[in-house]
Amino acid sequence: MTPNFDGKVAVITGAGAGFGAAFARALAQRGAAVALLDIDSAAAEHEARAIRDRGGLATGYGCDVADDAAFDDVLARIVAERGGVDILINNAGLHSAEFNKGFAELGSAASRRLIDVNIMGVVNGSVACRPVMAARGGGVILNISSIAAWSCTTAYGVSKLAVRGLTLSFAHEFAGDNIRVNAIAPGLIATDKIRGDFPPAFFDHFANTLQSVHRTGEVDDVVSAMLYLCSDQSSFVTGETLKVSGGYPLAL
Ligand SMILES: NC(=O)c1ccc[n+]([C@@H]2O[C@H](COP(=O)([O-])OP(=O)(O)OC[C@H]3O[C@@H](n4cnc5c(N)ncnc54)[C@H](O)[C@@H]3O)[C@@H](O)[C@H]2O)c1
Repeated sequence: MTPNFDGKVAVITGAGAGFGAAFARALAQRGAAVALLDIDSAAAEHEARAIRDRGGLATGYGCDVADDAAFDDVLARIVAERGGVDILINNAGLHSAEFNKGFAELGSAASRRLIDVNIMGVVNGSVACRPVMAARGGGVILNISSIAAWSCTTAYGVSKLAVRGLTLSFAHEFAGDNIRVNAIAPGLIATDKIRGDFPPAFFDHFANTLQSVHRTGEVDDVVSAMLYLCSDQSSFVTGETLKVSGGYPLAL
């Protein structure tokens, strides 16, 4: 049965494009009021307007997730406008070819920014939302990791391994407030950005050589997992990282 989110308030970071925008659309279609946060405030507002045009409840906010004070300010506005928060999706992340390299090659300034956004962004959002969710009797946090966390040959992979660690850590730390914390580790998924970054042959190589499911991963594959992990259908699941990757890598 498709889950229903009537009366729920969802905060989604990095919602101006890609997965974040798709998550916001899917939750709003199923009744949630959605807050779209993005460092690109125009993109967040553009996506929010598109949801409102279809009758949904949505607001866009400019927010750099690496900035804890900025996150706190935006959250206070959301709570004032919507009355609380039930779901947080820590989706914003720096990724793709630019960050798929070792720390030495990436350099210290870019490495620090990667850690600030991909790791501290998850910490900032989760810590800020915890008391707000606790005040509503509980909530759900969903982090977006990556299959890159299974090899850790790049700075990006290390940042996404930390997201798996934070998922376990917060599942333990926030359990007393009835907050479940899970993660999705997408494989190669054909978002607009990723399609633009890699040639078709790269997708074919993944689908036909690396994956056990021989087709290209689509945004809807990740949306389906998000709906499960953010709904009561997964009420007995916490601390889990679910690979959505066509079976690549088949590893623990
Ligand atoms: N697309 C894939 O194949 C894939 C695979 C594995 C993991 N992921 C992860 O999924 C998440 C979303 O990826 P996507 O493909 O949708 O990306 P995307 O690049 O299409 O969209 C990311 C959005 O995040 C925003 N953003 C970037 N830095 C930000 C910051 N500091 N604060 C707030 N917003 C910020 C961008 O402006 C953009 O709108 C990322 O964490 C990424 O690492 C993606």
